[in-house]
Formats: sequence, structure tokens, C-alpha cells
Amino acid sequence: MSRTITVIHGDGIGPEVTSAALSVLDAAGADLDYDEQLAGVTALEGVNDPMPAATLDSIRTNGVALKGPLTTPVGGGFRSINVAIRKEFDLYANVRPVRTFVPGSRYEDIDLVLIRENTEGLYVGVEHYIGMEGDPRAAAESVMIVTRFGAERVCRYAFEYARRHGRRKVTLAHKANILKYTQGLFLDVGRELAGEYPDVEFEDRIIDATAMQLVLNPHGFDVLVMENMFGDILSDLMAGLVGGLGMAPAGNIGRGVAMFEAVHGSAPDIAGRGIANPTALMLAACAMLDHIGQRETAARIRGALQKVLNQRRTVTGDLGGTASTQEYAQAVIRALD
Ligand code: NAI
Ligand code: MG
Repeated sequence: MSRTITVIHGDGIGPEVTSAALSVLDAAGADLDYDEQLAGVTALEGVNDPMPAATLDSIRTNGVALKGPLTTPVGGGFRSINVAIRKEFDLYANVRPVRTFVPGSRYEDIDLVLIRENTEGLYVGVEHYIGMEGDPRAAAESVMIVTRFGAERVCRYAFEYARRHGRRKVTLAHKANILKYTQGLFLDVGRELAGEYPDVEFEDRIIDATAMQLVLNPHGFDVLVMENMFGDILSDLMAGLVGGLGMAPAGNIGRGVAMFEAVHGSAPDIAGRGIANPTALMLAACAMLDHIGQRETAARIRGALQKVLNQRRTVTGDLGGTASTQEYAQAVIRALD
């Protein structure tokens, strides 16, 4: 039975990479119906609302969304729609796998998964200025919020993920040596839970040392779990291990709703030129297919991506090639078994 998913084409390079991903899904025979909805700048211009109720209703009804990147205005303007969607549906686990697809890059055989807490930490956005001696902005303060509830559900997700995918180890990266309360709570919760998963090896590491070790010896890691901002930063670092942002997909997972996207943004510097790398969104689409039980189709698409990237003949500029987004998508379609 075919599955209806919400599709948001997004802003900037969003429409280009989304249509490339949909054409590959269709060619691979994914059993999907698309409920196309607006969000972001495109929605603001189209229906005067960056987060239309119809889009939220569609995601709620379908339970699964594939989303192109959305532009967030810097400083003024509307708040991040990406964050709004994560909040609205309480998408607490941000799952960011990175895998080597392009041989001959800096590292071989990278296969890591970062699970980022997606609702708490410093990114709750509780911050304010403190005025002193006539200067209204003499200081600024942000609050990091960690709850036992929030830490437990994301750490549990990491252990369950490791078990379900036959992964050997979970590394909890933290800064509990300095932030003894917030990071200490996150670490304590992880350690407690580790006892329930004796089949999964557990270790904890300080976040800065983790960053260094990821560069020196990425093969020493497997699944990583951490709070929101640490995960934001290290997932970009990890994307760099496998060829950059064009290669990094993300799943935002909640209880009844999951939203799949690329880690990268709307790339205004290259938007409209048809040169963006659509691999990240294609891999996000594969993760979505896995999520809804269409695993064989996902494996076929990954296999085709692997072939095209191995040959390196038809790849986009960020990977050193000259192919357009569409030419790359066509090459992937031809490579489908
Ligand atoms: P970005 O990820 O859009 O771009 C960073 C750099 O990577 C740029 O040079 C860009 O050309 C390149 N790049 C990104 N994706 C690429 C791709 N698929 N192929 C080839 N090159 C690619 O980050 P930036 O410029 O900081 O943000 C632009 C906008 O995107 C902002 O409004 C930001 O808020 C938004 N954004 C949205 C996200 C989302 O929807 N989940 C995530 C990150 C940023
Ligand atoms: Mg980021």
C-alpha cells in the first residue's frame, strides 16, 4: 500500500535538490504519494505565512515529511521554521549518519552516526541582555536546559538505535568536567541507561577531545550521542570527514512524526544555478524509506549513489566534478539496478 508523505521543497537550492531526490524516488519505484506543502520564505511570499497551518496539519496527518532546506533570516524577521517544526512535533532525536561514498578522500570507510538531542540544551533560546552603567547590552546571558526526561529519551534512542542496527558502541560526548550540573546530568543519565544495554559497549568522552579524536581516528567511534549544540557542531565536522555538507542527511525523530532533510541549508550563494549536490537529500530520502519500511528501495538508491560516486564521472562541483544537479540525478537513475 502506498504511503503518503508531506513534501516541502524549501528555499534557495531546496527546489533543485528536492526535485532531484523525488525523481530518483520515482525511478526507484518507491511506493509513495506526495502531499506537497509550503514553508519558509517560499510560503511567506506565496501565502503570507512562513509556517502555514495547512503544512503542519499535513505533517501531523502523514507522520512523515521530506523537507528541503528553509532560509532563516538573520537578526530580524521570522524565527527558524526548522526549529518551529522540531518543536511543534517534539522531534527529539536528530539522527545524522555519515558514510564514505567517495573513495580516495581524506578517510576511507567512515561509517558513523551522531544522535543529537534536538529540543533542549543551549538552543532553547532562553537568553537576554543585562544592562549595567547605562549600557543596555553590557552583558548577555543564555540558559542551558537539560532535563532528566530529555536526556533519557535521547540516550535511550541512541542505545536502541545501536541495538537495532547492530552497532557495537555508543559514545556519549559531554563537558561534565566544567558544566557539572547540566552536562553532569546528561552524563549521569547516559551512564545509568548503559546498564540496561549490556550488549552495547558504552564510553563517555569530553567533547573537545572527541572533536580531536574524530579527526585523528574516526574509526574509533561508532554511534555518538550528545546535547543539542555540541551535536550541531560535531555533525558538521563529521560531514567534513566524508566530503562535506552535500553528503550529510538528517532524520528528526519524534513519537509519531519524523522529518527527513539534509544537514545543509538553502545555500543562497549557489541557489538557482542548478549546481547543488542533491546527495544529502537523496540519502535523507533513503533514511525516510527505511523509516517507513521500504528498505529494499532505499538500498537500491544507496547502491546507485555508490556507483555514480565511485566512478566520479558525473558529480557536482563540490565533489570536484562539473555535472549539474539534474545530470547527477539522471546518472543515479541510470545506475539503479
Ligand atoms: P548552507 O549549508 O546553506 O551553505 C554553506 C556552504 O555550503 C555554502 O557555501 C553552500 O554553497 C555550500 N552548500 C550547502 N549545501 C550544498 C549542496 N547541497 N551542494 C553544494 N554546496 C552546498 O549554510 P548557510 O549559508 O549558513 O545557510 C543558508 C541558509 O540556510 C540560512 O538561512 C540558514 O538559516 C539556512 N539553514 C537551513 C537549514 C535547514 O533547513 N535544516 C540548515 C542550515 C541552514
Ligand atoms: Mg548546523
